[in-house]
Amino acid sequence: MITHRPRRNRKSEAIRNLIQENHVTVNDFIFPLFLIDGKNNKSEVKSMPGIFRLSPDLMLKEIEQCLKLGITTFDVFPSLTDKYKDKFASESTNKNGLYLKTLAQIKMKFPEACIMTDVAMDPYSSDGHDGLVEDGKIVNDKTLDILAKMAIAQADCGIDIIGPSDMMDGRVGFIRDALDDAGHQDVSIMSYTAKYASAFYGPFRDALDSAPKFGDKKTYQMNPANSKEALIEAQLDLEEGADFLMVKPALSYLDIIKDLNTNFDLPIAAYNVSGEYAMVKAAAAKGWIDGDRVRDEILLSMKRAGASIILTYFAKEWALNIKKTRIKGCVQIK
Ligand code: PBG
Repeated sequence: MITHRPRRNRKSEAIRNLIQENHVTVNDFIFPLFLIDGKNNKSEVKSMPGIFRLSPDLMLKEIEQCLKLGITTFDVFPSLTDKYKDKFASESTNKNGLYLKTLAQIKMKFPEACIMTDVAMDPYSSDGHDGLVEDGKIVNDKTLDILAKMAIAQADCGIDIIGPSDMMDGRVGFIRDALDDAGHQDVSIMSYTAKYASAFYGPFRDALDSAPKFGDKKTYQMNPANSKEALIEAQLDLEEGADFLMVKPALSYLDIIKDLNTNFDLPIAAYNVSGEYAMVKAAAAKGWIDGDRVRDEILLSMKRAGASIILTYFAKEWALNIKKTRIKGCVQIK
């Protein structure tokens, strides 16, 4: 006699829906956007089909469309040509430069949009590193001053969340103090807490042309083989005043998402990075996988692991897809 029949809870769509533990909703998303100079200018990132670098006018349109789809939060990254790059990432505090000017425009036009920015030197650095390079080394403490100025300049544009992605020691506390001193107590910090030295960032570096000019990022980003370091980083970020903890990449690091969610009470964000997006798109284009279903399964896995926020290049297509199913009278929440 079989006394337990778990299959009873799977016998119909209705029952399966009743017992579903995790859901992805449009409220979970942060949509990363790539900014380029020009007017009516858009160029697709080759390794990220469907993702475009957009000039400011087109980015405003994109944000407007996304807001209508229910996406409320955006992470904006600048793609700069070499003439704007130097050793000290000077362009990062140029109020009349492409990035800061556009951020201010976005917040002016869409005050209801929640805008996140990236704090790291790489898009502006002639060395292509997240920190200041001296004698071939990435120097920690001198980088902090540059990051703090960058964060204040972004906060001055009215942005809502600062995202330090540089992995320098002590930067969350340093940036928190600098923001507070500048009167930006209400600006949040989403720390890239457990950011691994990953090959999954390849397509993003194509998008921004921001790959390191020498060496790699292993002296500051974490070793993919380790999990304990993530707990140390999370503890420090908590103590230094982070408002959110992020794990990046997400898919190969679901255990880290779970570890942080189990051990810390701050909300956890998962960064479903460029390489994860590219893999799905490439295999789907070949007809080897059902891209939409794989996408939804991947996003769900991040929720199941304990993320409450997902930064994902899939945000817009997911929202468009949901709209279609809603019209068919099906699920509103996936
Ligand atoms: C910059 C930064 C990177 C990403 C986000 N911010 C690249 C890197 O650290 O080299 C990667 C995002 C992605 O791959 O989608 N520090």
